[in-house]
Amino acid sequence: MPRFIFTLAVLGFFSLATPLSFAQKTLTNLHVLPKDISEDELSASMLENLRGLGLRRRQNEGCLHCHVGDMEQPSDSWDWASDAKPAKGKARTMMAMVRDINAQHLEKLEPRLDPPMRVTCYTCHAGRIDPRPLPDVLAAAYGDGGIESAMARYRELHERYFGGDAYDFRVGVLAGVAFEMAGRGAFDDAVALAELNTEVHPTEPAARRIWLQLRLGRTHAESGNTAALSEFDGWLRGPESEAIDPALLDGVGWGLFRRDRQDDALAVFRRNHQQFPEEYIPNESLADALWNHGERDQAIEMFEAWLARHPDHAMARRRLATLKRQL
Ligand code: HEC
Ligand code: HEC
Repeated sequence: MPRFIFTLAVLGFFSLATPLSFAQKTLTNLHVLPKDISEDELSASMLENLRGLGLRRRQNEGCLHCHVGDMEQPSDSWDWASDAKPAKGKARTMMAMVRDINAQHLEKLEPRLDPPMRVTCYTCHAGRIDPRPLPDVLAAAYGDGGIESAMARYRELHERYFGGDAYDFRVGVLAGVAFEMAGRGAFDDAVALAELNTEVHPTEPAARRIWLQLRLGRTHAESGNTAALSEFDGWLRGPESEAIDPALLDGVGWGLFRRDRQDDALAVFRRNHQQFPEEYIPNESLADALWNHGERDQAIEMFEAWLARHPDHAMARRRLATLKRQL
């Protein structure tokens, strides 16, 4: 009987003091890989699984995510053929899927990238077992244990994966989750998450602005528009003023607009326009809000006044033309 000795000595993405090895009498349980696969090919395939899912290679520890064995025992005594772990069954389905994507689907592209790209576990998993994107992972944690659990999960993932491909930690992603919470009325949770965003991104003005935006949204929900606008006025005189830009009230205004609070939205757009009369966005948003409110002449006048001051402004010109067509 042949005795396979797999020496996983091909050092891939990081090197190890001792090469990993395991031995097995024969391969008995292959359903996707060819039964006559060589040692090197089997090793390469298993290392691809490890790397794709971000599992530890040292002493074959990561292999145990799918295979049955005991870290106290040498790995050549592990039961490599066993299908006892559900992860192995899923991985087998994944291996067949990846084989088909490469052999059947990508083959049909004409022309291919040069050199052609092959899909691997890493293409989707990017170094994590659960391939869901960050917002989905946070939503799941939030559903299970509320905001504390979502925040703990974020910190944990950030600590472990920041700088890698696995998760998108940019400002907008956590902000998107926070806005979604606010959209469902969970303002305290949304504000807490947006505050975490400022903590993780201390030098990003957008993170601070989004946090302030959600705080205004909360004040609006709890105490109404006048209270929200006077909170904004207070910030203009305090340390928050640094983060106040035309996008802040603009976002609050469109949030109200989407929730069908047209009058409040209009008041917020007016306030923003008063604050930043020479910035385009507050002009466009106020004009659009006026238009939606039925004040079509005023909307047209605003665009015309803007264009009188900025005759080459292509965006304003296009917007005005669209509105005039709808008159
Ligand atoms: C993500 C899951 C996963 C990981 C991690 C993994 N394997 Fe596997 N392994 C499989 C699957 C699935 C098969 C069966 C493939 C098939 O059916 O063709 C397999 C088959 C094997 C076999 C053949 C067993 C037999 O007799 O049929 C060996 C040996 C093996 N793996 C070694 C390793 C080693 C060594 C590691 C760690 C470096 C490793 N595997 C990591 C999923 C995994
Ligand atoms: C085309 C994208 C894609 C590729 C490529 C891919 N996977 Fe997956 N994988 C997924 C998705 C999506 C899921 C989750 C499916 C679900 O449960 O809804 C998943 C789930 C899994 C799971 C189960 C995770 C869990 O905790 O339930 C394992 C294990 C796994 N993949 C292993 C692999 C391995 C090994 C490879 C490479 C051979 C691979 N995957 C390649 C998309 C991919």
